[in-house]
Amino acid sequence: MEQLDVDAVLAEATLEEKARLLSGNSMWSSPGVARLGVPALVLTDGPHGVRLKKPGTGDVGLLHAYPATCFPTAATLGSTWDVELLERVGSALGREARALGVGVLLGPGINIKRHPLGGRNFEYLSEDPLVGGLLGAGMVRGIQSRGVSACVKHFAVNNQEEDRMRVSAEVDARTLREIYLRAFEIVVKTSQPGTVMCAYNRVNGVYASENRWLLSDVLRGEWGYQGVVVSDWGAVHDRRRALEAGLDLQMPHSIDHPEQQLVHAVEEGSLDQAAIDRSARRVLSLIAAHAREAGDDAVDMHNEHDELAREAAAAGMVLLKNDPVAGHPVLPLDDWSGLLVVGQMAAAPRYQGTGSSQMTPTRLHTPLEGLATVIGAVPTYVEGYSDRDGADLEALRAEAVAAAARARTVVVFVGLPDSAEGEGGDRVAFELPAAQVTLLAELADVCPRTVVVLANGSPVSVAEWSDAVPAVLETWLPGQAGGLAVADVLSGEAEASGRLAETIPVRLQDTPAYLSFPGGAGRVRYDEGVFVGYRWYDSRDWPVAFPFGHGLSYTRFEYDALAVAVEGVGLDAMVEVTFELTNAGSRAGAEVPQLYVRRPGATDTVPRRELRAFAKERLAAGEVLKLSFTLRGEDLAQWDVASGSWRVHPGEIVLEVGASSRDIRLRTVLEGIGAVDAPGPLSVYSTVREWRDHPQGAALVAEQMATVSQDMDEAMEKLLSDIPMLVACRMGLFPLTAGQLEEFVVRGRS
Ligand code: BGC
Repeated sequence: MEQLDVDAVLAEATLEEKARLLSGNSMWSSPGVARLGVPALVLTDGPHGVRLKKPGTGDVGLLHAYPATCFPTAATLGSTWDVELLERVGSALGREARALGVGVLLGPGINIKRHPLGGRNFEYLSEDPLVGGLLGAGMVRGIQSRGVSACVKHFAVNNQEEDRMRVSAEVDARTLREIYLRAFEIVVKTSQPGTVMCAYNRVNGVYASENRWLLSDVLRGEWGYQGVVVSDWGAVHDRRRALEAGLDLQMPHSIDHPEQQLVHAVEEGSLDQAAIDRSARRVLSLIAAHAREAGDDAVDMHNEHDELAREAAAAGMVLLKNDPVAGHPVLPLDDWSGLLVVGQMAAAPRYQGTGSSQMTPTRLHTPLEGLATVIGAVPTYVEGYSDRDGADLEALRAEAVAAAARARTVVVFVGLPDSAEGEGGDRVAFELPAAQVTLLAELADVCPRTVVVLANGSPVSVAEWSDAVPAVLETWLPGQAGGLAVADVLSGEAEASGRLAETIPVRLQDTPAYLSFPGGAGRVRYDEGVFVGYRWYDSRDWPVAFPFGHGLSYTRFEYDALAVAVEGVGLDAMVEVTFELTNAGSRAGAEVPQLYVRRPGATDTVPRRELRAFAKERLAAGEVLKLSFTLRGEDLAQWDVASGSWRVHPGEIVLEVGASSRDIRLRTVLEGIGAVDAPGPLSVYSTVREWRDHPQGAALVAEQMATVSQDMDEAMEKLLSDIPMLVACRMGLFPLTAGQLEEFVVRGRS
């Protein structure tokens, strides 16, 4: 395609043509302007693989797509904590999209995992905005490196499936800024995605699609976003209002002709044509940047991408537990004799979620196939449980337990079935299916070397069975090559290097949003505020099954020599944190050192610790690495509601470096980084203490104190300090009239 001259097209295009650019002309495309040589734009899902429907197979429906690589879902990718790897996965996704002629790939999803039962959590990266933001930004850079636009979604505060198209997410200003908008802010500022998808839901009463504050003031005004805002599919309710709020492209096509509505609104004078011109320019710029012809043949890259999907899946699997049996950790498995594989999911794995992200993989490797590849022979396998209608669960379990009694090692694959989680509905239960829980208990009873492999898109309860088994590996939904990857990790071919990007709670009742999720009567109140995930559990010192950031390795890491260098104060501060990381074990491995900060708060309570930096480092046995993280002032800041800006408050800043939020290895405390404000003016309602501590009030208080009754002990003085000055005078504690006090205040201000 020749380079599109956006200015020339805009100068030539009629109002109707420009308006037509602003809504879809089918389920998966927006129109071009053939007369002016502007091509149509293809937009398709999704976050972990391209789903492009074959022609003639209908618009809706998730099947009949061209085969494409099914990479691990965001749940697994999030657990890699590896920005560079996500950039490579993004680049592969972009390459496949481009090969199929797709201009916009609808991902990544970076909403916060607010509650473990969120039906779409598997499509999101983390409960923490820094992990979601940095990994999401890596994916965007990768996708866009291939001339395809990424689409970060769903902006914003889309954290549940229940009533997702209407519900009003009610969140206070600080929580929005520090938690729910933060990942988007990071992605927008560091990787300029071509498109941002607005959410279905309302944010504090206003549909995200019509929310000017969100789409224009914050996204463009404060963050400098230049790209296109596209609606989630069917999220626009009032086309004119949405356009005015900053929504450029409505998707998909709509039978009520949004383009005509816009033209009509301009003609009748209720819409400024400049709004159409502005959005048309953005859409044309997007087409110019990303709607190129198809690239190389998709099929050529499938082998290579299958390998990458395997690497990424292995990197995101989290070894939750690996206790010794007879003196040796059970994993990695190096002796395959007497191995029994149990579980329907070993043969029919759950590897991706249902809903709009569902796609047709190029191939599917089962764990049985993966193990056979590693071992060099097909392992003994029994089904153990089944979701087939009419399956005799007791018989299947009895068969598995009998076989396990003869086995040296059992590897049992369990997890959530498709029906338990997916787009369009939240989960109803935190537990694994009952038949699986019973099976685990009985297997563990007869075989002490029972290894549990989990496949689920969001955390399941482990409390009732994990003590009974020595090893647990969480794979999440690991994509088409998950079966190979799981064998790689179990055998030690690949390092166990995934870390939890979300806490696994002991009980659902312990979770921060337990009482308010998913709300009702059209509203969901985010009562827990900023205390999401580990910010809640750690601040309350609440027991968890496995903490945020946790993940075992096959080697052992030591942390040492913490040093901190500080320059500047307030938002201009720069803090360089250095430390040494040593691989103290006897094999190579990867570690994810995490830097947590506790910042002082002026008026609000602050979490006990918040992640502010991390890295994924590979170290040879015995290797020592000097690492450094740089914190900027904004990493130490809190959203200050009164001034509507980020502020670093004065007070102690605690810095902690560790291997999880509950495994802190190094700690130091900084002082004097917060900018101390000049004291504000005194008022008659300032307390006696505020008067005493104020340059203008100190002398007066000292003078008055000298005159008050001599019977002033320490307790009385403390009590007096908190009384507003006017009240103290009225009660006759100080011999000043209200008028004199007022006069003093007025004089002080002038
Ligand atoms: C989902 C989006 C998706 C779109 C197109 C919507 O229902 O929320 O994530 O990209 O459909 O399939």
